[in-house]
Amino acid sequence: MNLVVVSNRVARGKANEPMTGGLAAALLPVVEKSGAIWVGSSGRVRDGAQMEPIVEVEQLGAGALALLDLPAAHYAGYYEGFANSALWPALHSRSDLIRVSHDDYNSYREVNAFVARALMRFQKPDTLFWIQDYHFLSLGAELRGLDVKSPIGFFLHTPWPSRSVIDSVPHHRELVEAMLAYDLIGFQTAEDCENFASCVRVDLGLKIRDGVVKSRYGRTRLAVFPIGIDADKFAQSAAKAVSHPDVSRLRRSLHGEKLAIGVDRLDYSKGLINRINAFDRMWSMHPGLLRGVSLLQIATPSRESIEAYGNLQSEVARLVSEVNGRHGEVDWTPIRYLNKGFGQGVLAGLYRTAQVGVVTPLHDGMNLVAKEYVAAQSPVDPGVLVLSKFAGAADELDTALLVNPHDIDGMARTIAMALSMPLNERRLRYEAMMAKLHRHSIQQWFADFVELLQDTEIDEPEIEPLPAAAAGLLAHSSAPPGARYH
Ligand code: F6P
Repeated sequence: MNLVVVSNRVARGKANEPMTGGLAAALLPVVEKSGAIWVGSSGRVRDGAQMEPIVEVEQLGAGALALLDLPAAHYAGYYEGFANSALWPALHSRSDLIRVSHDDYNSYREVNAFVARALMRFQKPDTLFWIQDYHFLSLGAELRGLDVKSPIGFFLHTPWPSRSVIDSVPHHRELVEAMLAYDLIGFQTAEDCENFASCVRVDLGLKIRDGVVKSRYGRTRLAVFPIGIDADKFAQSAAKAVSHPDVSRLRRSLHGEKLAIGVDRLDYSKGLINRINAFDRMWSMHPGLLRGVSLLQIATPSRESIEAYGNLQSEVARLVSEVNGRHGEVDWTPIRYLNKGFGQGVLAGLYRTAQVGVVTPLHDGMNLVAKEYVAAQSPVDPGVLVLSKFAGAADELDTALLVNPHDIDGMARTIAMALSMPLNERRLRYEAMMAKLHRHSIQQWFADFVELLQDTEIDEPEIEPLPAAAAGLLAHSSAPPGARYH
């Protein structure tokens, strides 16, 4: 088997370098071991109208990393535009933040087509393609347009929202239809899978039997694969990291006070404003906790050229300074706010130092920080995870203290409760969560997906007319899926 994994962002093999987000960090160790070729953006763009893909290949463990320079003319429309200003807010149920332009959609399709052309050089008779995430919804259709017959799988790392939300994205029906070029589509949770299935049923008028849709591309299986972590490896690096200079300095600075930790990309889906408001409320409601607990909030800058992210950055900074101004003392700062990234190794040590982990997104595909916080705890004296019920991780980590991130009073009370939880209860909750983390490891996730993709029965596409409902709906769209947009 020759596995080709594709994602927009790739990791460069240095675990101690800061990484933006879960996908790259999660895939790195398993891709390295599997011997797969991992194809993604080099982070550079290149000019040229009829640009031929140039691929730079370097070794990655037993496999290789293949880096593509993406077309300069379409990069902004693809990444900042359609992927992160239309799809990302929609996938996270923030219709109010959706910004769409038809040029951006065109660029998105162009980049998907460009990456498909680049992938042709990796195709062999036994190739399996595994495409990752919302940047490449139409990549499978582009590959099929180039006559690729190999199995092609897709995994969505974000949530898939309800139909009424995805409806706000122009061309969404074309995209959903294009996604049916994949043989296997994986989701983080059963709810995401069901939401997608409902788009297929209602918008395309197609039937789903036993998780399989039949479309003009052939069969597509829809399935759930919650992404995991290597809990034992993370626990080991947390235990080792206690001697890291940053971690030691943090401990020394605490003077007996407790610590809560939040680690997020600076993204509106992460619920940072509500979280800071909850701490503000907690210190007002429980003055005994002033000097008793501080919050270390790491917020790694992300997608800074997009207006919504710039606005959020200013809003969070303003709120942190207000709360610190209100509750701080000459020798005590309630919120330590760091606007930068840290490597996985140091983060593991920081998690272990904190008695409470606060992971309270408004909406999140999985949220691996929640899993990493649990894995980093000392089994003899574990901290408590306060987790949003709207993170995919809440399905498995149901012995965390689950909160509604919109309920500021409720979160304030729950954080206070976490701080005073007795040791025996902390241990029971931690042990139950560790058992789940062991069951759904990253290795298992990778193996399960690849195994099911390998077993996919590839049937010749039936070029039969779409059912009336879908044909009628697609007639309103500008071009058939798989076509290029100019
Ligand atoms: O699915 C989410 C994701 O792709 C994760 O890798 C990470 O949380 C984030 O998006 C990374 O975003 P970007 O590559 O835009 O920094």
